[in-house]
Amino acid sequence: MSNERIKEQITDALRGVMDPELHQDIVKLKMVKSVAVCDGAVRVEIELTTPACPLKDVIRKDVERAVRGVAGVTQVMVEFSASVRPSSGPLADALPGVKNVLAVGAGKGGVGKSTVAVAAAVGLLRDGATVGLLDGDIYGPSIPTMLGLGDAQPRVKNERILPIEWRLPGSQSVLKVISIGFMIDPDKALIWRGPMVHGVMRQFLGQVDWGELDYLVIDLPPGTGDVPLTLAQSVPLTGAVVVCTPQEVALIDARRAVRMFRDVGVECLGMVENMSYYACPHCGKEDDIFGRGGAKQSADRLNVPFLGEIPINGVIRAAGDEGRPERLFEHERTGQAFSEMVRNLAGQITVRNLTKPPPRAIGQPDQQGRNAANAPGHKPIGIG
Ligand SMILES: Nc1ncnc2c1ncn2[C@@H]1O[C@H](COP(=O)(O)OP(=O)(O)OP(=O)(O)O)[C@@H](O)[C@H]1O
Ligand SMILES: [Mg+2]
Repeated sequence: MSNERIKEQITDALRGVMDPELHQDIVKLKMVKSVAVCDGAVRVEIELTTPACPLKDVIRKDVERAVRGVAGVTQVMVEFSASVRPSSGPLADALPGVKNVLAVGAGKGGVGKSTVAVAAAVGLLRDGATVGLLDGDIYGPSIPTMLGLGDAQPRVKNERILPIEWRLPGSQSVLKVISIGFMIDPDKALIWRGPMVHGVMRQFLGQVDWGELDYLVIDLPPGTGDVPLTLAQSVPLTGAVVVCTPQEVALIDARRAVRMFRDVGVECLGMVENMSYYACPHCGKEDDIFGRGGAKQSADRLNVPFLGEIPINGVIRAAGDEGRPERLFEHERTGQAFSEMVRNLAGQITVRNLTKPPPRAIGQPDQQGRNAANAPGHKPIGIG
């Protein structure tokens, strides 16, 4: 059989390989970039929709099995590349070059939103994506401390603010960061009022030179007030991540946050349960201090994906206080928990982008001429 004929048969066989999250075949999803055949040896190049793909190993096995089933194939090599697909629609117009914007938030203070936002940004960067991190906590910015960038001051070039660069140790990868904490004494920000917050957020989104980014992660302040609304009004969010701890009081606020995002037309990409349990460093026994599992139950009830459980661990607190976020991934248990969360999140972003219409900000009409604020199910909410 000629190589061309074998290639055709391989492509046909690959039509039987489904992306496990998207439930469509990988040929239709344009993930098969190339097939090369030489004396029965086959090399298949698969382009993933995110470098942080959670199901790479499953896809590899399924591709190998399908290709081995073709007559004349003696050897199979699967190679992966990744390209986050560019957004279409309003996001491409509002922030050209930025493919996805994610907000990390919750109703409750102190549950670990900033920790999860930092872990998401650093985790995506570690997996090979280009990432930015915007500190949306105008009143109490914590990102500069958590990244060890307390003294940094952004420069302005051609009337655009250049983000501060945080370099992942041992690599060339750089996270682009902006925070009000780089610009003013954080204590002064506490007296800011609504309209000023709007102004700053719009400036961060519009006047910062973000360049090309696969993901821009936004760390939201506690509450369901001004900043999330300004964001939803200013930029089409790909989606939101809601962080909570397992206690009922935190879950009530988290459920309110999910509903708030839905009310303003923002997709909820999933819930994360932080401080889920404590694992004894001596015997490994897990203690569910706050009553593990509540976030998963709430996520199921609200019909939003559950992205993972993060244990309580002194390493996480120290990584934040010392400004060494790479340490979140160096400890075995926390590293595994954060990596899983990051990959589940990246998977959900891909699912969202391929199955739903492009995101839009409040006030931008959809294809039927409705805007997010008058979409079915929207209940008006006050600002502030
Ligand atoms: N899983 C964890 N284990 C141990 N410490 C944690 C964990 N998650 C967060 N922390 C610590 O708890 C403190 C609060 O976390 P963080 O600042 O991320 O919360 P937040 O929700 O962003 O707070 P705020 O509402 O003030 O913005 C930080 O010192 C952080 O390092
Ligand atoms: Mg915070």
